[in-house]
Amino acid sequence: MTTQQGDLQFVPTMGALHAGHGTVIRAASAMGPVLVSVFVNPLQFGPDEDLARYPRRLESDLALAEQWGAAALWAPSAEQIYPQGGERHPPTIQVPPGLQKHLCGAVRPGHFDGVVTVVARLLDLVRPRQLWLGEKDWQQLVILRWLVAHLALPVIVQGVATVREADGLALSSRNQYLSPDQRRMAAALPKALQAIRGDASDPLSALRGSLSDAGFDVEYVQRVDPRTLQPCGHETAISLLAAAVRCGSTRLIDHAFLMTRQPLVAIDGPAGAGKSTVTRAFAERLGLVYLDTGAMYRSVTWFVQQRGVDPSDGLAIEPLLNDLDIQLQSLPGGAQQVLVNGEDVSTAIRSPEVTASVSAVAAHRSVRQALTVQQKAMGSKGGLVAEGRDIGTAVFPDADLKVFLTATVAERARRRALDLEQRGFAVPDRADLEAQIAERDRLDSSREEAPLMQADDAIELVTDGMDIDVVIEALVRLFRDRVAEEAWPTPQR
Ligand code: PAF
Repeated sequence: MTTQQGDLQFVPTMGALHAGHGTVIRAASAMGPVLVSVFVNPLQFGPDEDLARYPRRLESDLALAEQWGAAALWAPSAEQIYPQGGERHPPTIQVPPGLQKHLCGAVRPGHFDGVVTVVARLLDLVRPRQLWLGEKDWQQLVILRWLVAHLALPVIVQGVATVREADGLALSSRNQYLSPDQRRMAAALPKALQAIRGDASDPLSALRGSLSDAGFDVEYVQRVDPRTLQPCGHETAISLLAAAVRCGSTRLIDHAFLMTRQPLVAIDGPAGAGKSTVTRAFAERLGLVYLDTGAMYRSVTWFVQQRGVDPSDGLAIEPLLNDLDIQLQSLPGGAQQVLVNGEDVSTAIRSPEVTASVSAVAAHRSVRQALTVQQKAMGSKGGLVAEGRDIGTAVFPDADLKVFLTATVAERARRRALDLEQRGFAVPDRADLEAQIAERDRLDSSREEAPLMQADDAIELVTDGMDIDVVIEALVRLFRDRVAEEAWPTPQR
């Protein structure tokens, strides 16, 4: 795939549209013209599944899609989609075993191979900018994200939170198979899932028990890591608790996110890679608090200077730490206020004197230990994006997303020169700037306390040639691979 069609937003469906599709179409139409496809894909149905009786209602689908703001609805034939083989075309793409070993993949062999085969074909024909999917089929969403990466398609995958009836039942085209009695009973599925708390000692048995008590035939209950889809326990702060049951002969799936705390993101990386600007904007976009640990080290430095203590004298600094109370407060618009013992030092900590000494102060073990304790306490409930030196390694090793944000030395020198020029300062020779940055990296990576180091599980994002908005988008996507809208909704702007 080489070209995309402008801003085209694509919502693939199997028809029998309901209000869940409506939410997806409405969200997509805010970003550009929406094409909805309706194709009941034979390849994703097993031999004993409901292909023949799957609801087909093209006329009402057309009216609904239009009402929800779609620009067009496309209902291709099986021959158009599978010209070589029609209905019994074999899947041409295989999903990696790890992604389909659990949940629905384990009980519906070949289903996801059929889904990726059709979606790859649809994407090739439509070439949209964005592909929109519901989070209800979370495993499908993860697998289609894999597909887009695997085929290196220039398509952004957007997940939309599950839409539920007033009694909690997730909307699904298959709900119409339910008799009135079964429909009443079906509400027990979301209820049982929601009743399990993040700290429950044996959530799977508890869930299995309450689903059986409600009269369902339980197909599976599982707890997995939302990104890797591998079984997990309490150590994974945000996990997916998923269930498939039979309600009469109708198969229902649903899930809940078990959270032992709110999401936590750690952003690390060398100096001059634009971490602060990007982190602040990213935090605001997702309604997370921005924890600027650099500001905390600057605050200590400012305090040390106020007390007339030598920044290199670790022994003299240590006792000062007991008298120090640092508070960070997010202001509307993303700015941050920094208070030291109640005094607003937001501007003072950005002075050239503080800048010149912050590295020396931050290198003292006592300072690092004191601030690490404080940062861990700030992050214990989550809800933060923390940016700083050893955030993903020493402070929040259990962060849900760790990013090592970096740029080449040449790119950082270019940005630094631009910044100096814009602020009216003399701009050193480019080669000198590059040498200074390389030397700072060397010192930062080799120092004894908290050396600059990429955590094993951090994702490296090299931002050369990316403008700030593109970097923020990339971070949001990484976040959404791990944290569903349902678990942490994007605040409305
Ligand atoms: O979720 C669905 O409706 C289908 O699996 C999809 C993505 C349209 C592929 O046939």
